[in-house]
Amino acid sequence: MNTPALTALPPLSLYVHIPWCIRKCPYCDFNSHTLNSSADENAYVDALLTDLAQELPLVWGRPVESVFFGGGTPSVFSAEAIDRLLGGIRALVRLQPGAEITLEANPGTFERERFGGYAQAGINRLSIGVQSFDDAKLAALGRIHRGGEAEAAVTAALDLFERVNTDLMYALPQQSPEQAAADIRRAAAAGVRHISAYHLTMEPNTPFGHTPPPGLPEDEAALDIEAAVHAALAEAGLAQYETSAFAHSREHQCRHNLNYWQFGDYIGIGAGAHGKISSHAGVSRSVRSRHPKDYLAAMQTQPHKAVRRHKVAADELPFEFMMNALRLHDGVPSHWFAERTGLTLAQIAPAIQKAVERGLLDPAPHSLKPTPLGRRFLNDLLQLFL
Ligand SMILES: C[S@@+](CC[C@H](N)C(=O)[O-])C[C@H]1O[C@@H](n2cnc3c(N)ncnc32)[C@H](O)[C@@H]1O
Ligand code: SF4
Repeated sequence: MNTPALTALPPLSLYVHIPWCIRKCPYCDFNSHTLNSSADENAYVDALLTDLAQELPLVWGRPVESVFFGGGTPSVFSAEAIDRLLGGIRALVRLQPGAEITLEANPGTFERERFGGYAQAGINRLSIGVQSFDDAKLAALGRIHRGGEAEAAVTAALDLFERVNTDLMYALPQQSPEQAAADIRRAAAAGVRHISAYHLTMEPNTPFGHTPPPGLPEDEAALDIEAAVHAALAEAGLAQYETSAFAHSREHQCRHNLNYWQFGDYIGIGAGAHGKISSHAGVSRSVRSRHPKDYLAAMQTQPHKAVRRHKVAADELPFEFMMNALRLHDGVPSHWFAERTGLTLAQIAPAIQKAVERGLLDPAPHSLKPTPLGRRFLNDLLQLFL
């Protein structure tokens, strides 16, 4: 394929990775490390701001539409640290008025006490890792909190933030469809208007990946649980807009994640963070040193050494674009393909035609949208764009 030339630049967001957790969960393969006394939040905030300053020449003058503090568990940081960090970010980039600023939090008690400070610092959306409200399930998952604490955290968050997400996982050990649906109903009854519902997966290189917990549902039972979860979400008025994301209305959808799925640009700062930046010359990706110690050391001495960059090859762009866009229930307008990859739709016309013929892609020409069959067999649909 020819080298792409972009004529317009997509919206830009900012991802900030905080790589520590109180304790590592046995199912999780995120870049997160057990918090120990050597982790210094002030030094890390300085490193993040150095990282961001280094990115500025690549995004000169472009406004930032959303910020997402993800992890790990960003709520291990004090409200003062988040305040200083957000202040530093505002001094370096132009944050759009009303920008969505999300922070991921654990539902532990001491973190709940920090929520007010986060709101004061400018966080306007809180995402709480509830996973389940059932104490036995939480224990089986190795979580450090109980169901009651999760509920208290959700209630406290709803008092302070207009937009609150809860992460829930299903297909848990010994879980019945009814138990999984009960978790959804409990979050919705508390007033949550956005739920991310994830099928628990066994990730290689995690304790569960090596030794799965007893009582995991078989494939068919897991499908029954998923059906019960989706039915409970629909009953609660939360509509699916992406593979795992459900919202009460468009207003409650996560703008930051939507920008990823719509193949927008993002600066990624922090240990192991990835970035995607478009320019008139094409699309580039960056990745940073994964271990917090290496990342911090590099940011303190030779910041450019912490970041590796590469240009995305033209023939990889169709798959990358579709892998994101086709997760969305409504897909994306077709003209975004050319605008955001620099390629032409004609270049992928044979793959589109095949996908339509197989009933995986909606035939309407103005959008690229998966059919219900395409959503169910998303991998088969994506293979066509490889
Ligand atoms: C970075 S964590 C969220 C914040 C915080 N660390 C926490 O766990 O409360 C992101 C989310 O990914 C989900 N997750 C992590 N590992 C998973 C797995 N193996 N299968 C399914 N979902 C997973 C969990 O729902 C988790 O809340
Ligand atoms: S699920 Fe959340 S708390 Fe558990 S290890 Fe992963 S990032 Fe940390």
